[in-house]
Amino acid sequence: MSKLLYITVNPKKEIKLSKGLQIGEAFLEEFKKYQPNIEIENMHLYDMEIPEIDMDLLYGRAKLSFMGYKFDQLTEQEQTKLTKMHELADRFIAADYYVFVTPLWNLGSPSILKAFLDNLFIVNKTFKNTENGPDGLLKGKKGVHIQTRGGIYSSGPLVDFEFGDRFLRTALGFLGIEVMDSVIAEGMDHFPKMAAEIIEKAKSKAVETAREMAKDPISEKA
Ligand SMILES: Cc1cc2nc3c(=O)[nH]c(=O)nc-3n(C[C@H](O)[C@H](O)[C@H](O)COP(=O)(O)O)c2cc1C
Repeated sequence: MSKLLYITVNPKKEIKLSKGLQIGEAFLEEFKKYQPNIEIENMHLYDMEIPEIDMDLLYGRAKLSFMGYKFDQLTEQEQTKLTKMHELADRFIAADYYVFVTPLWNLGSPSILKAFLDNLFIVNKTFKNTENGPDGLLKGKKGVHIQTRGGIYSSGPLVDFEFGDRFLRTALGFLGIEVMDSVIAEGMDHFPKMAAEIIEKAKSKAVETAREMAKDPISEKA
């Protein structure tokens, strides 16, 4: 059975409060029609304890990688934080599909998403270094980003100011994940009268993308 990780990156948990979550629901509904047996795991990042790369993680990793230490020679804090990091990465790796729902905040994603992604970049686990540069190890998996924005970034003067979708897509691609076209709802705050229409359009795009992502199930290929 395939597994879909539904990663929501917004302190809001109630669907009616978040435009992104409304679009995310439309995506999931459609996906389930095509893969009724899909196992869906919710990851609401604001409910999780996400290790931050601090001195314990930095030094613990360095000790293991090139200072000749064994795991049980690390400090208790280093062991605990490294274990949590690997557990989080293992949970991520165990999935076949990834759906991220984020708002654009101050030109990027909420910082908790960066903290989360920092736990996934583990050499020889999610990517390896080769003579030709880094190579992602999460091949055969698919991801999509559903993003809401108050303003317009797909055209006009802010085209080069958007780093949320750009960063997430690049990071997932780096890990070897096949990244679908993002589902973007933008301009709702700047053009509030058009907000309902913009959200409906994004829901239609989410439905289309869900169909595209769900067809040709990953578990049957394996
Ligand atoms: C802290 C904060 C920062 C924001 N920064 C931006 C921004 O840089 N650009 C933008 O277009 N909208 C920005 N917004 C607006 C949100 O992206 C927009 O309201 C979005 O629709 C929120 O999605 P949600 O309803 O799922 O929470 C910001 C909102 C907040 C709360």
